[in-house]
Amino acid sequence: MLKSTHINTVSAVVLTSAAKLAGLYIVAQGHRAKFQKIGTVANLFMYPVKSCGVLETKQAKITNVGLEWDGVIDRQWMILDERNETITMKEEPRLSCIRCTTDTNKLHLHAPDMPVLSLPMRPDLSGGKPFTLKLLNQLISVAECGDDAKKWISGFLGRAAYMVFSCPDLGTRDAYLRQRKWSNEAKSGDVSIFAYLTSYLVTSTASLKHINSQLDPPVSMVNFRPNLVIDNTEPFDEDNWKEILIGDQILFHTVEPCRRCVITTIEPDTANKRADVQPLKLLRSFRCRAPYGGSPLFGVYFANDFPGFIKVGDPVYVLKA
Ligand SMILES: *[C@@H]1O[C@H](CO)[C@@H](O)[C@H](O)[C@H]1NC(C)=O
Repeated sequence: MLKSTHINTVSAVVLTSAAKLAGLYIVAQGHRAKFQKIGTVANLFMYPVKSCGVLETKQAKITNVGLEWDGVIDRQWMILDERNETITMKEEPRLSCIRCTTDTNKLHLHAPDMPVLSLPMRPDLSGGKPFTLKLLNQLISVAECGDDAKKWISGFLGRAAYMVFSCPDLGTRDAYLRQRKWSNEAKSGDVSIFAYLTSYLVTSTASLKHINSQLDPPVSMVNFRPNLVIDNTEPFDEDNWKEILIGDQILFHTVEPCRRCVITTIEPDTANKRADVQPLKLLRSFRCRAPYGGSPLFGVYFANDFPGFIKVGDPVYVLKA
């Protein structure tokens, strides 16, 4: 059960918006009884460098800006070109072969035929001031990762590129302030660092199983680049989840379904694009919904209301719309 003393201490530090405090109050008062158990946590995936390979962990801290494990937060690093535009897997599929590992205060990047690049968890800011960058129409303050990172990523891609970093005390982007073509369901304070919309993309094992029953060869969950994978039984049930409660206290609210693109057709380990354009082609045949246009939906963006510590196997409860 929720312990109110604990909530009071943590919430004073972590929660900023009145809306979130109100939400927490409701849960603490027994709103929780309306949640139904639908499964367990199956996987926790992080992508420390935006658009690069996955870092899977069995446990993590849930923070409002994303999963945090071993000093690394999800999508804290990003690759830019000479024009300060983000380089993604869409134009450089080989980024999916960059694998991240961590040890004390270092993020290591591994790539085929490349030496290991070791980056400090936080770049030395003495050489240059942080600067402001526009990412998906939102400004965020970033710091450059330095010459070693620049040489390494330019060498790997065979073109001029450099790396930047951010963290909550440098800057965050609030999904509430994003222009959407449909109603923006985000609340003030639904922040992330370099994530596309919010810091938690949630998918379910039943949805993957459903599409894989029609695909040969099957696709991996990593093709969809989620953060939280829920082991459940009903395909696409996640479309109906208004709130998710994990364990006793970790709480999320839904923001928007994820519109899928050609990145889902890149095989994560080889960076090869599937010639049969799967799973995108299959999804287009039955997962397009108004008002989201021609991009089919798979997975849902959630934002975190209350933080905590999460482990694979933790029970998952949902409140349905
Ligand atoms: C990229 O950003 C840096 C840092 O703000 C700036 O010095 C540089 O002029 C920018 N480059 C372009 C092409 O805008």
